[in-house]
Amino acid sequence: MSNLLTIKNLNAWYDQAQILHQVNMHVKEGEIVSIIGPNGAGKSTCLKAIANLVPRKEGNIFLQGKEISTIASHHLVKEGISFVPQGRSVFPSLRVEENLELLGFILKKDLDKRIKEVYSQFPVLADKKKQKAGLLSGGEQQMLALGRALLIKPKLLLMDEPTLGLSPKMKKLIFEKVKEINKETRLAILMVEQNARMALKLSDRAYVLELGRNRLEGTGEELLHDKEVEHLYLGGH
Ligand SMILES: Nc1ncnc2c1ncn2[C@@H]1O[C@H](COP(=O)(O)OP(=O)(O)OP(=O)(O)O)[C@@H](O)[C@H]1O
Ligand SMILES: [Mg+2]
Repeated sequence: MSNLLTIKNLNAWYDQAQILHQVNMHVKEGEIVSIIGPNGAGKSTCLKAIANLVPRKEGNIFLQGKEISTIASHHLVKEGISFVPQGRSVFPSLRVEENLELLGFILKKDLDKRIKEVYSQFPVLADKKKQKAGLLSGGEQQMLALGRALLIKPKLLLMDEPTLGLSPKMKKLIFEKVKEINKETRLAILMVEQNARMALKLSDRAYVLELGRNRLEGTGEELLHDKEVEHLYLGGH
């Protein structure tokens, strides 16, 4: 399987502070890959660097062999990259359907068809399409953010802490949805997740970042049973 995304020697800075140091990663077609690691390790910065949302970076980022590291963030959607940032990235005062219709400028005539597909993936969004997004539950808002990211039929989905602050039941549901979408559409996913155990169970492969550097990598299964990962990130049980 060829690499969909390749990250080579990525460095990133906020002001004078260098956060990422020579980070290397890749995501193959159809893979779910997780980035785990302690707070402040640079996990979010890594996704932001791919989405070109850090003030300064160096290194190479290739999508299907094309160098994308200098493409402006708002043009990456056209390259097939969708980014669901941390937090509830919906417009709370707009209705559910209006949040989705915002992508009309890219999708044009396909918009209605795509929105119908998102409603069939997330029936709760169809039920609540007239409701203001800010009145949805946290989990429903995350589904809306995810649904909106999927509207463009991305090649690669970047997700930062998709289950943060959600109930255990809702966490499980979001993970199941992500897996289902990955299986059905072979969509490649690179995600950051603080729930390392769930992330590793769901993922084909994962990277452990520490102090902005590659620390470990392996299949989800390998890392779940790695003594060091177990001790540091899985609570030792
Ligand atoms: N906008 C910013 N300006 C300055 N420093 C920042 C900014 N965002 C993050 N940092 C710093 O960069 C480092 C890495 O942050 P990052 O958010 O990438 O970590 P993380 O691994 O996602 O952590 P967490 O698990 O807490 O989300 C931290 O030391 C943080 O303080
Ligand atoms: Mg983070």
